[in-house]
Formats: sequence, structure tokens, C-alpha cells
Amino acid sequence: MSVLIAPSILSADFAALGAAVAAAERGGADLIHVDVMDGHFVPNITIGVPVVASLRRIATVPLDVHLMIDDPDRYIDAFAEAGASMISVHAEALRHLHRTVHAIKALGAKAGVVINPATPIVAIQEVAADVDYVVVMSVNPGFGGQTFIPRSESKVREVRALLDSVGNLAPVEIDGGVDRSNVACVVAAGARIVVAGSAIFGTADPERATRELKAAALGALTAPATR
Ligand code: DX5
Ligand code: ZN
Repeated sequence: MSVLIAPSILSADFAALGAAVAAAERGGADLIHVDVMDGHFVPNITIGVPVVASLRRIATVPLDVHLMIDDPDRYIDAFAEAGASMISVHAEALRHLHRTVHAIKALGAKAGVVINPATPIVAIQEVAADVDYVVVMSVNPGFGGQTFIPRSESKVREVRALLDSVGNLAPVEIDGGVDRSNVACVVAAGARIVVAGSAIFGTADPERATRELKAAALGALTAPATR
């Protein structure tokens, strides 16, 4: 599998989301990452179902919806109906993670499970065969523009090994603090979906930033191992 670039609109101008998505797509975005926050699971509040429905009308690539909310079971139907192709939920937010993963799949969306920096990988061990992707948070969720937590690189390797051990080819997604300086390392570690917010929409030219990040990510697939 190649590497997919998923620009996070969290760092875009919310008054011009259509233009932001179009620029990222011109730069080669493979997915659009949508960060949903409720002010409870994380301290910040962002966007909800109506915005996803509007984005679905203008985006030409799939929407990767990251739910940073308490009780996500209450909302997965609505996000799927609004046009989310991928829905990820936090292991920390769910008592019945296996049930939720299968509920997302039953709605026709891809089911992702997210783990925070402090969450051990064993938290997803029993659903490793069921998930369509695993998101490794490389910052504590809630805000864009934070610094990449170095331990995340080895965590990507360990999640990849877990998925391989159960014969699941599902990709590992990395989310938080990724930019051109570290994308090669996370791809070399096994990440195949790369989320980037400020590294794309925090720049003057998001189209170019997307293109350059993608080139750096793809370059890491062909580069000889450095360690
Ligand atoms: C953080 C979000 C991320 C965030 C990434 O809670 O889940 O998707 O937008 O932004 P950067 O790339 O700026 O860390
Ligand atoms: Zn996210």
C-alpha cells in the first residue's frame, strides 16, 4: 500500500472550508481529515454533523472523520449518514469498543480505533482483527499545532506488528505534529495514512504544502532504511 495524505481542516480557515479542501485536493490530498471535538472528551469544541454533510458535497476524496467525543455511539449513524467514509473512535471513550467497531462497519463506513499517547497498545489487542485502520495519536488530542511526541514512532511499529500478528492488512494512521521534518520517519515505521493540519493549512500555500508532504512521505517508501 502507498501512503495516503489526510490534511486536517482543523487548522484551516473555517470561513473558507471549501477553498481549503479544494487547495488540498489540488496538492494531492487522498483524504480529508475532519476533527470532531465536544468540549468533554477533549477541551476544545469544533464541528459536527452539518459541517460533514456540507464538506461531503464539495470534497472529491473520502472524509476521514475523527471523533474526539464522549459517547460516540450516539452519533456514528449521523456521521455515516452525513457522508463520512471513515469513522474513528477513541478506545478511551468506549466501554464496548468491539460493538462500536462493528456498528460503524454495519453503517458502510470504515471503522478506525484511535489510541492516545498514554494508552497502551494492549487496549486494542482484542479488536485488532476487526478494525479497518488504527490511529496512533502522536499528540494529546484537542488542538492543532502541537509538537510530535517522539515515542509515537515506535508505537506505530508496535501497532503494525500487532495488526500483522492477526493477519490484518489495515493501515496505521498517524495524527498530530507531523510535518516534512518527521514524515519520513513515521512512514518508515509503518504509517500509511498521514494526517497533517498546521503543516498544511498553517502555511501560505496549502496546495504546495500538501504536494511537498506527500512527496516526502512517498520518498520514504523507496528510500533505503536508515536504522
Ligand atoms: C488533534 C487532531 C489532529 C490535528 C492535527 O487533536 O486530532 O488531527 O488536527 O494537527 P497538527 O498536524 O497541526 O498537529
Ligand atoms: Zn485528528
